[in-house]
Amino acid sequence: MAALADEEGMHLDVASGGELHVALAAGVGPARLVLHGNNKSEGELRSARAAGVGRIVVDSHDELDRLERLHAEDGRVPAVLLRVTPGVEAHTHEFVRTGQDDSKFGFTLSTGVADAAVERARASAAVDLVGLHMHIGSQVFVARFFAAAVEAIAPFVAASGLPELSVGGGVGVAYVAGEEAPTISEWAAAVRSACADAGITARVTAEPGRAVVAGAAITLYTVGTVKDLAGIRTYVSVDGGMSDNPRPVLYGSGYETFLPRAPTAERPRTVTVVGKHCESGDVLVRDAAVPADLAVGDLLATPVTGAYGHSMGSNYNKVPRPPVVFVSGGDARLVVRRETHDDLLRFDL
Ligand SMILES: Cc1ncc(COP(=O)(O)O)c(C=O)c1O
Repeated sequence: MAALADEEGMHLDVASGGELHVALAAGVGPARLVLHGNNKSEGELRSARAAGVGRIVVDSHDELDRLERLHAEDGRVPAVLLRVTPGVEAHTHEFVRTGQDDSKFGFTLSTGVADAAVERARASAAVDLVGLHMHIGSQVFVARFFAAAVEAIAPFVAASGLPELSVGGGVGVAYVAGEEAPTISEWAAAVRSACADAGITARVTAEPGRAVVAGAAITLYTVGTVKDLAGIRTYVSVDGGMSDNPRPVLYGSGYETFLPRAPTAERPRTVTVVGKHCESGDVLVRDAAVPADLAVGDLLATPVTGAYGHSMGSNYNKVPRPPVVFVSGGDARLVVRRETHDDLLRFDL
């Protein structure tokens, strides 16, 4: 995925030393990487500085302390943005809402903490402060929240005189029928006009993630058990579940389903698609519309699983993770192999 994004000319956010390692191993030029995180370790900062990442998005005074210690060791001066919490509550699930004052991320704008951070970073020999950053949350549908965040931060951007502003990511995607999401271009146009209206002259960058990749993937399962509870519901059990897609359990997220053998078939039957894990909460699709003839052995697909699926996967119940296959123009290419039972023992000593 990192190599693909790079080939497409995008820059990449990395949110941990592990993601940094993967991006560098994929051949992504370090200057095209942006390091994020509310608790970057000294080791992670050391690796990012040594690699020469394009930007470090500084999240706290403790992080500035660490950067100053590292500067004393080797004299490197990374280009940084400061992450500001603009005090805007985006209408999305609280677990992925990040722009409000009550957040573990960033320097708070409303209390003056962000002012003090800019002052400190400007005066510090350990960093080259080139701009500001904000990210109000993920799966945000309403352009007005982005505009509100831009408006909230605009006077601060102007007062700082800094040449860069990252508006983060978070543009929502449609998962289920009836949801309507803006395209990236529509979102970008809304953000650009909000910036223009707010008089922002800094170079504006953005970090859409989900909107780039979510729709690019589908997950395929095999139906193993169908339990019909007359008058209650029908459970359709598949050979995966919360280990390959924890989003429904974490956020109550919805998905659609279809049968690849009959993708355009009518879907008059309502069932609950569940995984194979040892929890009743292991639900993938609560009210799935499926064809009337769905049967054991069918392949069942959930679309729009390209974001926060594979990357959030686990081996809960020692269920091996599925492979990842890239498909283009009728060709299929295995890019992450299926895990084996032996893989589950790989780290045990
Ligand atoms: C700082 C930052 N930027 C961008 C993103 C991407 O968000 P999304 O995938 O919702 O576009 C995230 C997601 O967590 C983030 O934390």
